[in-house]
Amino acid sequence: MTMKQIPGIKISLTLLLSLLLLACSAPEESNETAGGDDSFSYNTQLNVQQIMALVLEPASDILWDSGGWVMDASGYEELYPTTDDGWAYVRAQAAVVVESGNMLALPGRAPDGDAWMIYSEGLSDAGILAMEAAAAQDKEAFFQAGAQLYSVCTACHQAYNPEILDRFDDNPAD
Ligand code: HEC
Repeated sequence: MTMKQIPGIKISLTLLLSLLLLACSAPEESNETAGGDDSFSYNTQLNVQQIMALVLEPASDILWDSGGWVMDASGYEELYPTTDDGWAYVRAQAAVVVESGNMLALPGRAPDGDAWMIYSEGLSDAGILAMEAAAAQDKEAFFQAGAQLYSVCTACHQAYNPEILDRFDDNPAD
């Protein structure tokens, strides 16, 4: 499927379809369920820093540690999962990344409705790619999804908290 390579278009199509669906079903759904939107509030007690440290980073680290290869004293070693269970596990971590995009976009967390939302969506998009790659046990696609994920993290930190970038950089020379 070529659309996989263009997440932006996939999103727009999905959006279009849901809008159409909404338009079609609107007349029947005019009866609001009891206690509509106003009475519900999201629990946003965890702040962005906590979501990063406790939810998003642990899941992402597992994805990054499960893709590619390393060269060490004992030689060349592939990091990819080698069993169905292993792939299922990384797929579940990718699902955490997908939903983290939504968590960050919640009212009460998102500092604006512009770039922040685009980066949050980008997080979910990269997570979906990683989930699909894990389901297909496609190493190359999984690696690419990890790279895309990394670029989203970096872009958002660059925009909203540039000091974080220094902590990401393990290079002692800097
Ligand atoms: C939508 C924007 C956004 C995205 C996307 C994002 N971050 Fe963050 N991240 C932030 C902000 C803002 C902070 C600073 C939070 C604070 O300290 O108040 C932060 C802080 C962090 C921290 C430091 C947490 C701490 O304990 O101080 C880590 C680690 C981190 N992010 C990891 C990641 C990883 C890994 C990704 C990608 C998988 C990612 N972030 C994607 C916005 C983002």
